[in-house]
Amino acid sequence: MKKTILTGLRPTGNLHLGHYFGAGQNYLKMQEDYDFYLEIADVQALTDNFDNPEKVRTNVYEITKDLLAIGLEPNKVHFFIQSKIPEIAELTVFYGNLVTVSRLQRNPTVKTEIAQKKELFGNDGESITYGFLGYPVSQAADITVFGGELVPVGDDQLPLIEQCREIVRKFNSIYGEILKEPQQVLSTTTRVKGLDGNDKMGKSLGNAIYLVDDEETIKKKIMGALTDTNKIKKDDPADPDKCMVYYYHKLVNSNENINKVCTECQKGTRGCVDCKKELIEAMNNFLKPIQERRKHYEDNPELVKEILEKGTQEARLKAQSTMKNVKEAMKIDY
Ligand code: TRP
Ligand code: SF4
Repeated sequence: MKKTILTGLRPTGNLHLGHYFGAGQNYLKMQEDYDFYLEIADVQALTDNFDNPEKVRTNVYEITKDLLAIGLEPNKVHFFIQSKIPEIAELTVFYGNLVTVSRLQRNPTVKTEIAQKKELFGNDGESITYGFLGYPVSQAADITVFGGELVPVGDDQLPLIEQCREIVRKFNSIYGEILKEPQQVLSTTTRVKGLDGNDKMGKSLGNAIYLVDDEETIKKKIMGALTDTNKIKKDDPADPDKCMVYYYHKLVNSNENINKVCTECQKGTRGCVDCKKELIEAMNNFLKPIQERRKHYEDNPELVKEILEKGTQEARLKAQSTMKNVKEAMKIDY
């Protein structure tokens, strides 16, 4: 029996290089060895975007196309939409009794997000909704309703997995050993820095290269990328480790070219404009197969809907069987 793996993505925007190298590459390996459930977490996205439903709806399809474009295969991965699995909402309600409000407020991920919201809206937290505070509970239901054993997530999500494990232990100690405690699988790849040198690539930071970016956009972004600021003239020697252009060469170029960029930069025999042009070409070559695969789905949107429908049906069966056991254990199987 293959182990069950589950992860979720909020449909709030297209995937960028950070998603690809930080998560996507791992998913590609995992789809070969595990029973892989991939949730498009529209309900969770609405906790932050409840006033912008159109954005969430559009991005459900956008993100699914991105995931298919990187090479995830619908016959190996169950792609499903969170809101189409009502059992998740049901289990969330039951879990609500097993977690205290103060424990949620102390969850480090929630705490960070609340601090960010305070900064953004400038109030003292009055805009924090019940739904937002409770999203870790809902995420625990996401994972356990499918019997998720392994959860690949970034390190920012570890407190949510820990919270899930606590809920599972509490449930099992009261109602009987029904649920599995999930394990996190930390990404083996590293976080990708932004075009501006920021430690994180992100939409809100405006420093991302998206998998859907066309040649013109790539050109503009790379031409504006941060280079070693000490290099003024074309033949000044510079430090490639202080340059985002070199950093991305390392992600998408061949070893031979990477070495060449590095030595020529250090010797001062390479100008930044030429160096950027080479990166633009390498980046476009890297993105080409992804965008070609994506185009197939853009041209056939009914295929994307079918994939989501099939995955959702498969996921639902699994959720229904868990809920049967949960309700029996809770003595609400009338
Ligand atoms: N909270 C996750 C994020 O923001 C997305 C997510 C939703 C998730 N449900 C999940 C991750 C279940 C792992 C398991 O990235
Ligand atoms: Fe960066 Fe290339 Fe310029 Fe060196 S030559 S600073 S690696 S862009």
